Amino acid sequence: MPLVPGRQILEEALKGGYGVGAFNVNNMEQIQSIMMAARETQSPVFIQASRGALKYSNLVYLRHLMLAAAEENPDIPMAMHLDHGNNLDSAKTAVGLGFTSVMIDGSLKEDAKTPTTYDENVEVTKKVVDYCHQYGVSVEGEIGTLGGIEDGVGSGQIHLTDPVQAAQFIKDTGVDYLALAIGTSHGAYKFKAAPKLAIEIVTKVRELVGNVPMVMHGSSSVPKELVDEVNQYGGKMPNAMGVPIASIQEGIRSGVAKINVDTDGRLAITGAIRKVFATEPQKFDPREYLTPAREAHAKVVAERMRQFGAAGHAKDYKPMSLDENKAFYLSKSKAGASK
Ligand code: G3H
Ligand code: 13P
Ligand code: ZN
Repeated sequence: MPLVPGRQILEEALKGGYGVGAFNVNNMEQIQSIMMAARETQSPVFIQASRGALKYSNLVYLRHLMLAAAEENPDIPMAMHLDHGNNLDSAKTAVGLGFTSVMIDGSLKEDAKTPTTYDENVEVTKKVVDYCHQYGVSVEGEIGTLGGIEDGVGSGQIHLTDPVQAAQFIKDTGVDYLALAIGTSHGAYKFKAAPKLAIEIVTKVRELVGNVPMVMHGSSSVPKELVDEVNQYGGKMPNAMGVPIASIQEGIRSGVAKINVDTDGRLAITGAIRKVFATEPQKFDPREYLTPAREAHAKVVAERMRQFGAAGHAKDYKPMSLDENKAFYLSKSKAGASK
C-alpha cells in the first residue's frame, strides 16, 4: 500500500468510530516496532517525526526508513507525518521528504515556546495549508496550548481550547484535523493529582463543526509497570503519571481520531535496555539490547492500537494517492470560490 494522506486515515477512523495511534520515531528500531505492531493488529497508523527527530537523523535517514516501512508493509495504511512543525519552512521540508501529513503548531511562535495570538496562529496555519494542499498533503493545526516541555517544545502552561474559537479556526484556515488542548501535557509527568481531562471541549467542537477529526497530543498513559521497570534497573522517574486509557477512549467516542504517543514508547525501550545492562552486564552487542527494546516497544504499541479500536481496520478502504487528495482539495477550493 502506498503512503496514505492523513486525511483519509482519520476520516475513515471517524466513520468507523475508532482512533488511530500516531507514534513518534527517531530511528530504525522504533519504526520497525511500530510496524510490527500494526501488522500484528492489522491497524492503520501514523508514523511521526518531530523536528528534533529529523535533525537527529539528518532528515534523509528517517525519510528512507519510513519509506522502507511502507515498502515492507504493503497492506497497512500508513501516514508519514511531521509532528509540531513550527513554520512554513518546516512544512516545506516535510513535503520535500515525501511526508503525507504535516502538523503546523501555530499555537506557539517559531521558538516553540511563546504562545501566539489567534491571528498569528491563523496566519501561519493558513500559509501551511495552502502550501501543503497543492501537493495533496494533509494538515493538522493546533489551538490552545498543552502543558509540559519536551526537547524545548512547549510553553509549559496549559491554555485549554475555546471550542467556539476552534470552530472558527477550522473555517479560517481549512485545516484537515485539529489538535485541542484538553488538559494533557507532553512527557512523563502530566499530572500531580488524579488526572482530569476536559473532554467536553471535544464534544462541543464536534457539535459546532461536525466530522472534522480531532487530535489528542500528550496521550501517553505512562503505565506503572513500564516506569517500575525503568526504576528497578537504575532509572530515576519518581511520580511519573499519564493519561488513563479510559479518558482517551472517551475522547475517541467524542470525536478524537488521532492520538499522539511518544513517551510510552520511550519508557518501554529504556526499561528493556536498562534490564539487559543491569542483568547481563557482559553483553555489548547492540542487537542484544535493541532486540528486547524493539519487542517491548511493539508490545505497548499493539496494546494501544487495540485500546484505541484501530485493530482490524487496515483493510477497510482503498488507499488514496496524494494526487487524488490534491484533486479533492482543488475541487473543494473551486466549490468555495464559486459560492
Ligand atoms: O511533542 C513532542 C514529542 O514527544 C516529540 O518529542 O521533540 O523530543 O522529539 P521531541
Ligand atoms: P506524549 O509525551 O504523551 O507521548 O505525547 C506525545 C505527543 O503529543 C507528540 O506530539
Ligand atoms: Zn505533541
